[in-house]
Amino acid sequence: MTSTRSAPTTIRFVALREQYEQLKPEIDAAVSSVLGRSAYIGGAEVAEFERWFAGYCGVPHALGVASGTTALELVLRALGVGPGDEVAMPVNTFIATAAAVVMTGARPVFVDVDEHQQSRSRDARARDRAQDEGDRARAPVRPSGADA
Ligand SMILES: Cc1ncc(COP(=O)(O)O)c(C=O)c1O
Repeated sequence: MTSTRSAPTTIRFVALREQYEQLKPEIDAAVSSVLGRSAYIGGAEVAEFERWFAGYCGVPHALGVASGTTALELVLRALGVGPGDEVAMPVNTFIATAAAVVMTGARPVFVDVDEHQQSRSRDARARDRAQDEGDRARAPVRPSGADA
């Protein structure tokens, strides 16, 4: 029997250059337009995106923000999290989770993790801590695509 094994093939996770080349005229025109108007905060493009995204999600409104950290802070504030509150999160979360909590004036509480378990376990521990100790909220984190 002969071996049919061939040389390993490298499959790139993303092909950013190819994606850019396919949309180059549109992307260049859009970036050039924003730069030309110095429209770095808000502006027509953001308003248009917010309208489109709200429609895509089937909700009345969508709000664009500058970063994921700001989005987390906004959600916490919308939930009424603030000074005197504690928010539980996995101890090995990304720093943005804790930063968003601190920005509201609340206190991040780090919940220990089982080194052999996935995030579901970490989140379960955060949930348990939130229920047991009266934390205002828990912040499940989905690191590296692991199920939350
Ligand atoms: C799990 C997680 N939460 C929050 C953030 C914050 O996003 P941003 O860097 O846009 O503030 C990141 C960024 O990598 C992240 O990985």
